[in-house]
Amino acid sequence: MTGQTLTHYSVGEKLGEGGSAVVYRAVDLALGREVVIKFFSHEGAGGIARFQHEARTISSLNHPNICTIYEIGEHEGRHFLAMELLDGQVLSKTIGGRPLTTDRLIDLGTQIADALEAAHAEGIVHRDVKPANIFVTRSGRIKLLDFGVAVMLPRRVDPTTARSLFSTGGTIPYMSPEQARVEDLDHRTDLFSLGIVLYEMAVGRRPFVGANATDVLSAIVNEPPIAPRAVNPAVPLELDRIITKALEKNPALRYQTASDLKADLHRLKRDLDRASSVRAQAAGQAPISLSMRSSRWLGTAAVVAASAMVGGGWLAIAAVRARSRSAASADVMKGSVRTADVELRPEMERPKNRAAAVVERPTPAPVRPDAPAPRSAATVAPPPAQPGANDPLPAADHFLIARQQIELKLYDQAIDSLRRIAQGPHRQEAIDASFLIASVHDTRGDTANAMSTYIEIANRFPDDPRAAEALAKLAESTLNSKRRDKEQDARRTLTELVQKYPASPWAPRALLMRGEIEAKQGRYQRDETLGGSVPTAAVTYREIVKHYPSSEAAAAALNNLARIYSDAKQFEIAAGTFEELATRDADNRYDAWFAAGEIYEKRIKDKARARAAYLRVQPSSPHYSEARKRVAR
Ligand SMILES: Nc1ncnc2c1ncn2[C@@H]1O[C@H](COP(=O)(O)OP(=O)(O)O)[C@@H](O)[C@H]1O
Ligand SMILES: [Mg+2]
Repeated sequence: MTGQTLTHYSVGEKLGEGGSAVVYRAVDLALGREVVIKFFSHEGAGGIARFQHEARTISSLNHPNICTIYEIGEHEGRHFLAMELLDGQVLSKTIGGRPLTTDRLIDLGTQIADALEAAHAEGIVHRDVKPANIFVTRSGRIKLLDFGVAVMLPRRVDPTTARSLFSTGGTIPYMSPEQARVEDLDHRTDLFSLGIVLYEMAVGRRPFVGANATDVLSAIVNEPPIAPRAVNPAVPLELDRIITKALEKNPALRYQTASDLKADLHRLKRDLDRASSVRAQAAGQAPISLSMRSSRWLGTAAVVAASAMVGGGWLAIAAVRARSRSAASADVMKGSVRTADVELRPEMERPKNRAAAVVERPTPAPVRPDAPAPRSAATVAPPPAQPGANDPLPAADHFLIARQQIELKLYDQAIDSLRRIAQGPHRQEAIDASFLIASVHDTRGDTANAMSTYIEIANRFPDDPRAAEALAKLAESTLNSKRRDKEQDARRTLTELVQKYPASPWAPRALLMRGEIEAKQGRYQRDETLGGSVPTAAVTYREIVKHYPSSEAAAAALNNLARIYSDAKQFEIAAGTFEELATRDADNRYDAWFAAGEIYEKRIKDKARARAAYLRVQPSSPHYSEARKRVAR
């Protein structure tokens, strides 16, 4: 075809080829502009009908996100379409097996929803929404292509047509369940397919996979997808919820209109923008407390004084005791010290393409050879039979049965029993069942499904007090997984927990977990004014003491903090921190008086203060007799 002239078009290079057509670049000799010529491969009555259909359908739509059609033509008995030439690439290339950033996903997803909104408003259902039919221009604009199998509503789909479309193939992985089952369709089929496209943009791979077409179709119809965030933890919870809702198997539970989906994406964007501007502000204002330059401590005075600024003044005592006041400390006290964005030390830096690294395939659970095949995804997905209200067995019996099944290691059966409750009408029971499902997945080492289940709990019941617990467990499961960036991912979840549920008892626990991750990672935080860096874990522990002073986590945080100070040879502050801990640690879990005494005796070599600390060691302490001995010396 290349090199030929048809009517007034000079045909150039081939641009692409889909299931039914070949697309060439061409020049419109009459108007002197570049165009695209699309030739249909299947001529004959059906092919021509399809082609005329596509032409008429597109020309009835005039929308910036839908490719414009210029002309229907015929050359030596072959039909073609002349269309707007697009500069860029199809979305499948843009994705290329890697997740897109959330910003980009929202931008592109919104435009696709926009195009579908316009088509649906004209009563047109696209029926073939997939990345190969979505063009991304160089300027970032989406153009929906290929209305070749689109239908006009309210006409009902005649099953023979549907079957013949089905057999043209190529689009099976993007079909909706109703399409896969060759049932009647409406515009909501496009919203399911859009859900698949969003999923692929979010994690870099499709939600429904299988060894062959039958397996893929069966996954579309029966299997709940692994939550996007369980595959790529960079996916915000709200985006996970949006995608999961678009992928509801039952059209009645799915997004009902493209406009609703678009509105949810808009709202997510607004919330993310707001959160990032709050973060940017906070980064410029937070006072710092302890500081290091090139990994070496700055003068004790500055450190002590800065420490005194936070934590309800408890460190001020240490500062006085330190007897090392200086002019520098006064400056720090006035609050001239600021922390900037969190960063890693150079040697801790991670590869730039970490997003790609995250997208490991979830490892399948180890299964006994005689066990039935594991379900590919988690939890609260609909079981085959409709559960809930008209289930003859009460939930308590299902729980009992499930627990026995767990004891017998009949995990698949247990999950089935629990799913009935998870899908039932009783909220608390549903939540309990979902947690138990997740713990079964955890027990058998199936972290992908465990994570997926915790995400679903957090998404389905965001207002329940246990949503925060689900996020904490999600972080734990992440740490138990084999992901490459698991610490980073868990840390992100914990931060989200604290931001979303600051009043939950899980918030201080989450911060404590986060601090431990940060300490393990050796994370440092840049300190602009001093030009050095501070251990991020120390900042996190101090946050716990400041915001959750009476929590159990506060005592653990003080203990960890004292050890950080001690490891950094900041013995005055370390001892002061142990003293502060001792006055809170009623059940003497941390044996803090003894720890303080040891520092006074061995590090600071202050016998009087060591003696005073040893004297306060409680009889319940394992070091009580040792402390008495030392007092007597
Ligand atoms: N207007 C266009 N500008 C540039 N490339 C296009 C254009 N239309 C289609 N293509 C390319 O041709 C491929 C096939 O086009 P499509 O309309 O999807 O045909 P089919 O019906 O055969 O699937 C697309 O995936 C894309 O790469
Ligand atoms: Mg196509």
